[in-house]
Amino acid sequence: MAESIAAPAPQPQPILQSLLLPLQDRVAIVTGGSRGIGRAISLHLASLGAKIVINYSSNSSEADLVASLINTNNSSSSSSAGNPRAITVKADVSDPAQVKSLFDAAKSAFNSQPHILVNSAGVLDPKYPTLFDTTLEEFDRTFSVNTRGAFLCFKEASNRLKRGGGGRIICLSSSMVGSLRPGYGAYAGSKAAVEAMVKILAKELKGTGITANCVAPGPIATEMFFAGKTEEMVRRVVDECPLSRLGESKDVAPVVGFLASDAGEWVNGQVVRVNGGYV
Ligand SMILES: NC(=O)c1ccc[n+]([C@@H]2O[C@H](COP(=O)([O-])OP(=O)(O)OC[C@H]3O[C@@H](n4cnc5c(N)ncnc54)[C@H](OP(=O)(O)O)[C@@H]3O)[C@@H](O)[C@H]2O)c1
Repeated sequence: MAESIAAPAPQPQPILQSLLLPLQDRVAIVTGGSRGIGRAISLHLASLGAKIVINYSSNSSEADLVASLINTNNSSSSSSAGNPRAITVKADVSDPAQVKSLFDAAKSAFNSQPHILVNSAGVLDPKYPTLFDTTLEEFDRTFSVNTRGAFLCFKEASNRLKRGGGGRIICLSSSMVGSLRPGYGAYAGSKAAVEAMVKILAKELKGTGITANCVAPGPIATEMFFAGKTEEMVRRVVDECPLSRLGESKDVAPVVGFLASDAGEWVNGQVVRVNGGYV
């Protein structure tokens, strides 16, 4: 009598695996990954399989919360106390030594070169001064974090991200570079410089397989957006939007996820505006 043979258990198809987890085990550094848009990006990239380095500058508890969300959600896979899928690293992006140590920490935590840098750290003066009322201190702070910080992250990432495929530099700029509203002079200027740098960087990275893009959100409901705004100011922003609502961090994160994936490779040297039609 023929012996009954149990049917082999179905194996996950590699193609299905890469569709479900397109960033499986790639390391992503997310500056400003502890709050707002960066937080949503950290969580989204983790859901696509990436290991995440959550950077912050001062508020460690928010960063720890994001890390524990990722590590708890992944507790059934390779994540554990000794083998976490997310870590937090305090570093001021405007300081070259701290940016270097951020990349060092990523390498030593995951024993792998990072593939992805998302630079979401940024500041905005909540007094919304005209350019002629902007203090030199506030101008310098804006350019120090938004522009110098982006520059330092670009430099480090260009030299240290994985080459030969999958390397990604994604920087948050702003649709304000397009809408050019009064009260945002220094801020829009700081982000315009970032957009110009990214477009040139993408060309300079020829031969490395690393792409460089900006994602430029319109108004997004985060602490940065609400700071210093009256209800009337918020209502005007909603009225102006063709979709009649404020953007949310979750409107932005999937666009970053796409750019970070292999499917996003052909988008290079671009500024992708994500604003519901605001500008
Ligand atoms: N929200 C909007 O409407 C909007 C629109 C267009 C573009 N953007 C851009 O999107 C990015 C994220 O904005 P958001 O609204 O998410 O801001 P947010 O809620 O204020 O969060 C800012 C994040 O950046 C970190 N950060 C600030 N200064 C830093 C520094 N020097 N070094 C390292 N990290 C620093 C903060 O960490 P700590 O908590 O430790 O300070 C925090 O994680 C920014 O680049 C912003 O310009 C925002």
